[in-house]
Amino acid sequence: MAAGSSSQRSAKGAGGALSYHTSSYWNSRFATDPREASGFEWLSSSSSLLSCIPSCILTSPSPRILHIGVGTSSLSLDIARYFHAQDGDCSRAAGVMNVDFAPRSIEFQRSAERQWLQSIAHSVDEVMPYKVLDLLDWSQVCEMQGGFDVVLDKSTADSISTGQDLHLDDLPTNAHPALRKIAQHTKAIPTIQVLGIHLAALVKKGGVWLCHSYSSDRWADVVVPPDAQQVWPWRLGEVVDIPVESDIPNAPQIQHHIYTLHRI
Ligand SMILES: C[S@@+](CC[C@H](N)C(=O)[O-])C[C@H]1O[C@@H](n2cnc3c(N)ncnc32)[C@H](O)[C@@H]1O
Repeated sequence: MAAGSSSQRSAKGAGGALSYHTSSYWNSRFATDPREASGFEWLSSSSSLLSCIPSCILTSPSPRILHIGVGTSSLSLDIARYFHAQDGDCSRAAGVMNVDFAPRSIEFQRSAERQWLQSIAHSVDEVMPYKVLDLLDWSQVCEMQGGFDVVLDKSTADSISTGQDLHLDDLPTNAHPALRKIAQHTKAIPTIQVLGIHLAALVKKGGVWLCHSYSSDRWADVVVPPDAQQVWPWRLGEVVDIPVESDIPNAPQIQHHIYTLHRI
C-alpha cells in the first residue's frame, strides 16, 4: 500500500519520538483522553477555517467539501449549521464528506450529527457522508469519488508530516505514478507530499486545499525536484496568520497559519 497502511506504519517517528501518524495512536486517544469525549479542537475553533472558505462554495447549491482528519472537531457540524441557518434545511450538508482513518473519530462525528438533527427535529438521522479512510493509502483513496471544490485540513497535514519520509524502495507496485516519478529524482519523499499527490486526485482543477497548521514553515521543506515539477499539482497561494488566544496574561503572541494551495 502506498506509504504503508496505518497499521504497517510505526507508532514511533524518527528518533523514537511519539508521533501522530498512526490510526492506533488516534483510536487509543479518542477512547481514553477525557478531552475527546465532548469534542476537542486542535489549533483553534472552527471559525478561522470556516471564514477562509470561498463564499462561492458556501453559497453554492451543491458544494463539494472534503474535510480530512475530522477527529472530534465541530467544523463539519458548524458548516451544516451554517447551511441550515441560511436555507432552513440541511440538504447542502450532504456535500460535506468527512474522512478519518480512526473509526472512533467517525463514530463520534456520526453521533454528534445525529444529536443535532434530533435537536432540530429533522426527519432523517444522517445527512453528511462519512468514510474511514487512510489518506496515505492510494488503493483506498483511488476508490473515492472526486470532484471536490475544497479540502479542509485542520492540523491533519501536521499529523501526517510526523511520519517518516518515503524512499523509492518503499513504494508499492500500485503507488500513484506521480510519486514514482518524484521518487526517481529525490532520496526521500515527505509524507505530506504523498498526501498532496493523493488529494489532487480528489479535487477539481481550480479547487483549493485550506491547510490550517501550527507551523510557519509547513510547506517550506516540501521541495519538488526540478525534474519532477510537472507532476506536482498544487500552487501555494496566500497564507493567513491566525493569532492564538491565550488565558495567560502577557503571554507572547503565537500565530498559527492557514495556507491556501490551489489545484493546478
Ligand atoms: C491533529 S488531529 C486534528 C483533528 C481535527 N481536524 C481538529 O482540528 O481538531 C489529526 C487528525 O487526522 C487524522 N489522521 C491522521 N493521519 C491520517 C491519515 N493518514 N488518514 C486519515 N486521517 C488521518 C487523525 O485520526 C486525527 O483525527
